[in-house]
Amino acid sequence: MNKVFPKDFKWGVATSAYQIEGGNNFSDWALWEEKMGIEKAGKACNSYIEYEKDIELLKKLNLNTYRFSIEWSRIEPKEGEWNLEALDYYKSLLKKLKIEGIEPFVTLFHYSLPQWVSEYKSFETKKIINYFKRFTEFVVENLGMDVKYWITINEPTVYASLGYISKQWPPGKKSYIKYFRVIKNLELSHIVSYKKINEIYKKYGWDKPSISIAQNNNDMVGKDIPSKIYIYFLKRIFSYSFLNKVKDYIDFIGLNVYFYTEIEFSLFKGFSSNLENKLPENDVKGWKIHPLSMYSLVKDVYNRYKKDIYITENGISLINDEKRGIYIKEYLEYLFKAIEEGIPVKGYFYWTLVDNFEWLNGYKAKFGLCYLDESNKRVIKNSGKYYASIVKRNSID
Ligand code: FCB
Repeated sequence: MNKVFPKDFKWGVATSAYQIEGGNNFSDWALWEEKMGIEKAGKACNSYIEYEKDIELLKKLNLNTYRFSIEWSRIEPKEGEWNLEALDYYKSLLKKLKIEGIEPFVTLFHYSLPQWVSEYKSFETKKIINYFKRFTEFVVENLGMDVKYWITINEPTVYASLGYISKQWPPGKKSYIKYFRVIKNLELSHIVSYKKINEIYKKYGWDKPSISIAQNNNDMVGKDIPSKIYIYFLKRIFSYSFLNKVKDYIDFIGLNVYFYTEIEFSLFKGFSSNLENKLPENDVKGWKIHPLSMYSLVKDVYNRYKKDIYITENGISLINDEKRGIYIKEYLEYLFKAIEEGIPVKGYFYWTLVDNFEWLNGYKAKFGLCYLDESNKRVIKNSGKYYASIVKRNSID
């Protein structure tokens, strides 16, 4: 059978500014690295300087779409001070993408905040809503003419959980009250940003933009009745509550697919899960590889929200690149199955282009289709070549 994707399917890779650009010293993450004594992002992939080389890679991979983020702490390093050199950088990046015929998907907030915003307690207070609106306005006024697709916020529930429940990310707090407050302010920030983007496009008569968030859902399976009930509540809080609140302010669903967990209940241990279940080929990340999750998660969000879907991230971290291509293909097989059943999946972004700074794991996690060699030259891995061949044929046969 011919497994050919729809004619106008968008094939891409996803990145984020803090993870690839380098030199983002005004970010709250730079302070966090210092405070926790963890590996620093430093120069990252040096994409701020070498973005043209990234675009060359996109071309070699045959991609027609690229998801990247705008670094707020670079654009507005001090409160109300706009860095025009940074703006020029994003202008050049967009211009070059346009010349190459690559459609940008632009994220406004991908985990990293300006330090001055974190001094105002980040998303804990309502103040952020106006700051985020002003940032959106500056970016969209200046760059909007070259962008149709926007992701306002990357993985709101992951951001809030790691920063306000598990204490692993800035600001490293543990408070359920704060967690819910942050979620609320993320929702409101998204909504003001959504409205602002639309307003600007209308004002200039630009074609209507398409806007969403990127939601990271966990495919969870309960092995017994208590676990199934527990999962029902976990999903309500972590998978649907944010989308439910913003569903009238998104034009498509951006879905990040990584996690599969089996949950078990025992009287001695309570609920336990095996989110991390290292295969020999996994690197530090060890997230379970479970291609069927692609199908279950896509179906689940489609049944609930009935909107077009883009897989805004899906990636596998492996020490050895050998099996990455096969795994990507397996995830795509299940994506194809969903499309065949009539679910309007419009695009797929592999995470990520080049091995980059992976938050707490620093440079040890290797998600990339490409890597930097000792002389910092970008080199395409075999998985990159394999993905490029799928994209070229628009088919997984
Ligand atoms: C996602 C994040 C992205 C990257 C990948 C591995 O949850 O959005 O920045 O860290 O995981």
